[in-house]
Amino acid sequence: MSGGPYDDRGNHDASITNPCGMAEDDPVHAGGHEHPAPGGPFLIGEAMTGGYGRGADILHSCTIAVDRGEIAVIVGPNGAGKSTAMKAVFGMLSLREGMVRLDGEDITELSPQARVRKGMGFVPQTHNIFTSMTVEENLEMGAFIRRDDISGTMEQVFDLFPILKDKRRQAAGELSGGQRQQVAVGRALMTKPKVLMLDEPTAGVSPIVMDELFDRIIEVARTGLPVLMVEQNARQALAIADKGYVLVQGRNAHTGTGKALLADDEVRRSFLGG
Ligand SMILES: Nc1ncnc2c1ncn2[C@@H]1O[C@H](COP(=O)(O)OP(=O)(O)OP(=O)(O)O)[C@@H](O)[C@H]1O
Ligand SMILES: [Mg+2]
Repeated sequence: MSGGPYDDRGNHDASITNPCGMAEDDPVHAGGHEHPAPGGPFLIGEAMTGGYGRGADILHSCTIAVDRGEIAVIVGPNGAGKSTAMKAVFGMLSLREGMVRLDGEDITELSPQARVRKGMGFVPQTHNIFTSMTVEENLEMGAFIRRDDISGTMEQVFDLFPILKDKRRQAAGELSGGQRQQVAVGRALMTKPKVLMLDEPTAGVSPIVMDELFDRIIEVARTGLPVLMVEQNARQALAIADKGYVLVQGRNAHTGTGKALLADDEVRRSFLGG
């Protein structure tokens, strides 16, 4: 990952996740079948077409993907279908066309729960924590699929977000917006995912808290955990993105490296305010 846009940020501790070197007795990651796809992205929702229930299609041949060692960012106007695309990749939408592959395996027909077992961690845009439960209980809930000792992972989450350790006995609903988002990300990390999907992790927080959250996300990505995220702070997000997608009306409008999209006149004019 050297030479990436975020090499100079965060620390270089790779302890929070270990996506490549899972223990044999790890119940979360054991038992899967390897279907490596040389050349294919680690996680891809490819040419996805579909909508909610019997409603009209929201996504129109939409493709989003993230590879190992990458941060991929999805931006676009309100209602563009960013959250819908994330939900489709997570299995919350039945697709009429297209497919979802994780590490080369076709998972298009799997339930969200089954995808979590395959290694997907997803933080939805809303309702992403249990507000009446304590911080610690939220993290424990996050580890619901695990039967092994979760205390080490919880310590790693506390190392990443120290404030959560101080507040671990407080109801999550009493925390600030930025701290709640830390709980939500921490909850997803408790499964020891192989890929992390975040829908607007910095929604509603101050610029300073946003920078801090981005730094933590970069830190997580640097451990080797691919991060696929939707962001409304397009400029800042593309600045840390290896790969960016601009979605408009459920379609891929622009795709490129974060750098290339930031430099693209049309993208700047239409989506970044000039
Ligand atoms: N549960 C749902 N049932 C039916 N339609 C929905 C549902 N959720 C979203 N939609 C519709 O799908 C379209 C895309 O919405 P979506 O939430 O994916 O956009 P978005 O890009 O995430 O927007 P935002 O930036 O506001 O989060 C919108 O027209 C929205 O009204
Ligand atoms: Mg959304």
